Amino acid sequence: MNASKIAIALAIAYSTASPAQTTIPPYLDPSKEIETRVEDALSRMTLDEKIRVIHAQSKFSSAGVPRLGLPDFWTDDGPHGVRPDVLWDEWEQAGQTNDSCVAFPALTCLAATWNPDLASLYGTALAEEALYRGKDMMLGPGVNIYRTPLNGRNFEYMGEDPLLASEMVVPYVRGLQALGVAACVKHFALNNDEEYRNQVNVVVSDRALHEIYLPAFKAAVEKGKAWAIMGAYNLYKNQHNCHNDILLNKILKQDWKFDGVVVSDWGGTHDTDEAVRNGLDMEFGSWTNGLSWGASNAYDNYYLASPYKKAILCGQYSTAELDDKVRRVLRLFFRTTMDRSRPAGFLCSEAHYSTARKVAEEGIVLLKNDNVLPIDLSSARRVLVVGENAVKMMTVGGGSSSLKAQREISPLDGLRARLQGIAQVDYARGYVGDVTGEYNGVTTGQDLTESRSADELIAEAVSMARAADYVIVFGGLNKSDYQDCEGHDRKDFALPYAQDRLVAALAQANKRTVFVNISGNAVAMPWVDKVGAIVQGWFLGSESGTALASVLVGDANPSGRLPFSWMSSLDQYAPHALNAYPGTWRDDKKIIDEEYKEDIFVGYRWADKQKLKPLFAFGHGLSYTTFEYGKARRAANGDICLTVRNTGQRPGAETVQLYIRDVKSSLPRPVKELKAFKKVWLQPGESAEVVFAIEPSMLSFFDDAKQEWVVEPGQFEALIGASATDIRAKVAFDWK
Ligand code: BGC
Repeated sequence: MNASKIAIALAIAYSTASPAQTTIPPYLDPSKEIETRVEDALSRMTLDEKIRVIHAQSKFSSAGVPRLGLPDFWTDDGPHGVRPDVLWDEWEQAGQTNDSCVAFPALTCLAATWNPDLASLYGTALAEEALYRGKDMMLGPGVNIYRTPLNGRNFEYMGEDPLLASEMVVPYVRGLQALGVAACVKHFALNNDEEYRNQVNVVVSDRALHEIYLPAFKAAVEKGKAWAIMGAYNLYKNQHNCHNDILLNKILKQDWKFDGVVVSDWGGTHDTDEAVRNGLDMEFGSWTNGLSWGASNAYDNYYLASPYKKAILCGQYSTAELDDKVRRVLRLFFRTTMDRSRPAGFLCSEAHYSTARKVAEEGIVLLKNDNVLPIDLSSARRVLVVGENAVKMMTVGGGSSSLKAQREISPLDGLRARLQGIAQVDYARGYVGDVTGEYNGVTTGQDLTESRSADELIAEAVSMARAADYVIVFGGLNKSDYQDCEGHDRKDFALPYAQDRLVAALAQANKRTVFVNISGNAVAMPWVDKVGAIVQGWFLGSESGTALASVLVGDANPSGRLPFSWMSSLDQYAPHALNAYPGTWRDDKKIIDEEYKEDIFVGYRWADKQKLKPLFAFGHGLSYTTFEYGKARRAANGDICLTVRNTGQRPGAETVQLYIRDVKSSLPRPVKELKAFKKVWLQPGESAEVVFAIEPSMLSFFDDAKQEWVVEPGQFEALIGASATDIRAKVAFDWK
């Protein structure tokens, strides 16, 4: 038996023997506090062992301490399912047969459910898949704020509002970590666009930083107790965020008391001294672009590997910084790999598919409906499905969140299955997007090649549309480069591939034309008034087709709400209106300064300030039933209460949103800000009382001068509504 096998055997024996029989080294004793175990393990480690645990040893793993029986540590993307394995030291697929997974809906969809219980279920299901796959940490969830609809990675995040993202991220993290799998919340911070992600230096006020960009991370740390955070590629105050003194040392570790591990983004580390001093704990992916290429066996050359060790041996650093990093890594080990009560996990269970389906059904947003949906099953005989996105597998692509799904039900298959025996479902291609169907060595196996021209495809679809009872167009983006994909932003706001022409022509041919937009971003809809209904269908993962069919026919009553403002044109978004995207290159062409000139006025805060009418407001989403809001009142204990009633014919859910307006303030404030929400399920005729407790934190703002959150006494208004532009009740109140 070699040393590591002996250590593991001992660890197992110790953990089952009674303390009276043996003397267990404290670090192996599960009855001891984690901090005791950490200190004990640390005291036994050599310098080489310490250095080895703070950087990668393969594309997605780092070393344990074999001599002490501490296993290697495995991580993987994230955040929508467990990414298939690549080779040890290459980005090529390992070709495993046990790494097909359930693809859960992308996080924009999860956010659109406005249902924190679903975020918890999502985290738990993902943890079970991760455990089966031997992964100790998932690289997700992502909570960067939706600032511009061009950001190629918005689909991986939770929308534009700090409160919504905070409420949704906490249960995700807790659900995941309850099973001993670490969350690695990303990308900390200010990583709000992709195009120049390694060169962007964000210039932002402290106020916007604290009010808009940090709250979801803070909630993940303070409430969710996240065990890891991933630094972002970009810079803030001229320092890369993977080793950024203010963000990591001051805010994250000092102010928020984060006791976990700061992980670099892949290739996000640039300097040993900064990495040593500025809060980075684990270095991954150096000498790679994080996506596709990488130098082989670079691990000893990592900034936190040999260069760091040499500097310690030369006396440039004491071991204080190193010990702090190793303590954090050991804490992570004891929370994950060394937690002997962790379950084994399982893959692709029906329960996981059911979670994926629930999230998808609840996240789908009915944006517009001129009495066209749901499809009337008693009269529909011919349904025409149009568009590449009706058939294209969407789980492959998009960058690091790309998956190898065990199954993915396409919208066309989902509708065909649901309408079998009821209506004939025909298909017309309508447009050609990206036919390649490959990402990072995973291929969809679909042959989507098409030789007909755009005009021919449109003509075919239009002639078929004339004979159909319903026309359901599945279009949007598709996770190909520049179309909602990591590494680049979208080039413009318009739909690609001549879809506008297609949709306009179909709408003219058939009044019951429904457009289902598959994307993680808003898109321009010049034909918005012409189509009968519009559905936001996100990237829904494995159960895409089932969930969409169930909403389209009305088995599920749509209850998703937009997690971002959907404006008519790009210039209605603050960064574009203010020419504050993508920034200004410095003379050396190495850094691009991106000043967030809109400050705290992001999303609906900007629309309110400028009195812009969104095409579809933040928080908007229709239902097949109707809800009536009663009069709001302030109870004796200060709570805001009101009654909501389902006045329609179907059971459904309403998301009641509480916005607060500060009537008079010493600093400019948004017209209103979301401070709480409740999703209530009601049978026809049923009503429920919705109660919101008012906390001081709902009234406060971050004062740059004082560097703290401040509540000013005075008058406030509670605005309660169904979206940011659909306020149904108001109560004024004083705060003393
Ligand atoms: C991405 C991260 C991802 C990592 C590992 C990077 O390119 O920015 O989100 O977790 O690669 O795949």
